[in-house]
Amino acid sequence: MMIKKLALFLFFLVFSGLLLAQESNGDASVEKKVFIDNLLSKMTLQEKVGQLRLVSVGGDLTLHKVLDQIQAGEIGGIFNTVVEPDLFQMQERALKSPSKIPLYFGFDIIHGHRTVFPINLGIASTWDRSAIAKVAEVSANEATTDGLNITWAPMVDITRDPRWGRVSEGFGEDPYLTSEAGRIFVEKMQKQSLADKKSLVTTVKHFALYGAVEGGREYNSTDMSERKMFQEYLVPYKAAIDAGSRAVMVSLVSVNGIPATANHWLLTEVLRNQWHFDGVVVSDHGAIRELINHGVASDPKDAVRVAIKAGIEMSMNDEYFLQFVPELVKEGAISEDEINQACRHVLELKYDMGLFSDPKRNLDPTLDIDTMFADNRLHRAEARDVARRSIVLLKNENEILPLAKNKKIAVIGPLADSKRDILGSWSGAGRANLAVTPLEGIKNAVKNPESISYAFGANLSDDENLYRFLNLYGETTKFDNRPADKMIAEAVKIAKKADIVIAFVGEAEGMAHESSSRTDLSLPATQKQLLNALKKTGKPLVIVLMNGRPLTLSEEYAQADAMLETWFLGTEGGNAIADVLFGDYNPSGKLPISFPDNVGQIPVYYSHLNTGRPRGTENMGKYTTSYFDSPNEPLFPFGFGLSYTNFAMDFSLSSSEMNKNGEIIVKVNVENIGNKEGMQTVQLYLQDVTASVSRPVKELIGFENISLKPHEKGEVEFVIKYDMLKFWNDKMQYVAEPGKFNVFIGSDSTTQNKQTFTLLD
Ligand code: BGC
Repeated sequence: MMIKKLALFLFFLVFSGLLLAQESNGDASVEKKVFIDNLLSKMTLQEKVGQLRLVSVGGDLTLHKVLDQIQAGEIGGIFNTVVEPDLFQMQERALKSPSKIPLYFGFDIIHGHRTVFPINLGIASTWDRSAIAKVAEVSANEATTDGLNITWAPMVDITRDPRWGRVSEGFGEDPYLTSEAGRIFVEKMQKQSLADKKSLVTTVKHFALYGAVEGGREYNSTDMSERKMFQEYLVPYKAAIDAGSRAVMVSLVSVNGIPATANHWLLTEVLRNQWHFDGVVVSDHGAIRELINHGVASDPKDAVRVAIKAGIEMSMNDEYFLQFVPELVKEGAISEDEINQACRHVLELKYDMGLFSDPKRNLDPTLDIDTMFADNRLHRAEARDVARRSIVLLKNENEILPLAKNKKIAVIGPLADSKRDILGSWSGAGRANLAVTPLEGIKNAVKNPESISYAFGANLSDDENLYRFLNLYGETTKFDNRPADKMIAEAVKIAKKADIVIAFVGEAEGMAHESSSRTDLSLPATQKQLLNALKKTGKPLVIVLMNGRPLTLSEEYAQADAMLETWFLGTEGGNAIADVLFGDYNPSGKLPISFPDNVGQIPVYYSHLNTGRPRGTENMGKYTTSYFDSPNEPLFPFGFGLSYTNFAMDFSLSSSEMNKNGEIIVKVNVENIGNKEGMQTVQLYLQDVTASVSRPVKELIGFENISLKPHEKGEVEFVIKYDMLKFWNDKMQYVAEPGKFNVFIGSDSTTQNKQTFTLLD
């Protein structure tokens, strides 16, 4: 009896709690609507347009001019300023504008803020949700401490063409891995409530398909079937929006013949009508003007009309909105309702951020530059932890790694001591002088730094044009004018005296950035010559790669005794590299993108469709899908990465059949069969064997990490649910079709470790 009463009482408590919560939510949203309706009703058209303008200080637009425009109510948001006293001053002026609407402040926080984490390809290489979460949390904390409210991240463009420089900014080739990273960024940056002072609003970008540009050429066109879009390329944007991202940035490219900025289908039919996105749609930098070059607008005024009609709301780096929107409204080419709706989205966002009640949140007008960039504001421990998890061991012949700390080591190469490069691109609020280079990291790790010798060895390249390109807006990459053979001789000299040679080669950070497409993905000749000379010394050679995209490395792979992919690891990069080289951390990274054997294979990715004539081995593969001068397979496949230990895996399915409401449990036994503690990423792939459309040979649908001591056994479990079997069928319906499915478990995408089940009718 007592228990019954208690249960009833508890039920009552929970139920009334729910009702109260609903009511107060309801009240809050009514309050918000009343507030915004009221505000909108008092705003002039000019002011409404002002809210749609995103502006940054620079060039002709001096701080003075920007402040005047702010006070006139002509600017809604500021980006690219991270100096708090300036932001404070701007906000004060906004509060003196006719409607006193606060500004919001944005910045590109792509892989860290003051503390720079690895570039996103590196973050994705961790295959570790908690590491990704750490990056997002620390970045949001640092950015909001700096008074920022919104970021233009996460960048979740699927990238399968390493010729494109922005490959470095994404999370690789796979929709599932990229979606997971994007989702975590959104959840951890925005937090539970935007009103949280540490919440940073995310802007998922670049919607859509920027990563699929023709030939990897920057700002180019994309053309893709709707099936491929919905099945693969659009998935990560949708995942970020479903996770609650309150803003979307539109890509600079054309999508099936229509620039994304002018693409009503993309921005309105898909984004708003199908996906029910109710946040703010931001154009990319200068995208409105570019509609004229794209050939879909005749002049600036027409470009504004076309963009707004398609669904653009805020204009980034706006030049034309203020000038032309009022005129276009007057002429009836766009309606005031359209502007009201866009302005409402911006005001709602500001309201939810809590800016109307606390416009100067996190802004300290007295903060000086030294404090702003102070070392004690950095999160070095977190940066080092994520950085070492991002490193991928590609080769380790004769277990040459890890190294003993008492060896004589020659550290060589143009990237071995470069503070700027290790930060990677998009690290605007970071400071190179605070970064740890590999040489510094190695010296920090050993007991006797005297045992470490160093030589620059070679310039990154001898192509003058490349240096002009890299240093166009200020010197970032120094060219050493000494003769090449002299530099090589110096390197060889120290190599000969050492027990082991570690060569740091790859790209300057500026080679893997926006607007840095390449057609040749091999190491430039200067670096190859250096490696050849080092190889000739006969000393064990460890090649450590620093680069922002997959390179073609078959020669270097053959030369190296051991090879590490370290991307650009950020502030703590050098220490993280040393952790792995000396075995203080057992490498666990896995490639989030395939490395082509040669450029001609591109695109090369693991989740391709099967063909009527799969690659055969007989008769030299003739009349099957193959090249006669190259393998089909990449040099390093998606998901690949070694460890200092070895793991064995086997697995079972809970059933060989599944129905609509059922599920299959995949139990994986993992054993560390080596003699070092280590972490393995267990990867789960699925293949729908027969369907109404051809399905990929394999698709990643899950991954989990397990850490095991030597000879320890452990278990990882996955659950395959009906929804995970769905795809866009021959009628473009998102369904699962009955039939046979192959389940693969492995440590990379080439696994053939397979079990089968049938989805029943
Ligand atoms: C890039 C965006 C970036 C914006 C603002 C553009 O050039 O394409 O990704 O967010 O600049 O910095």
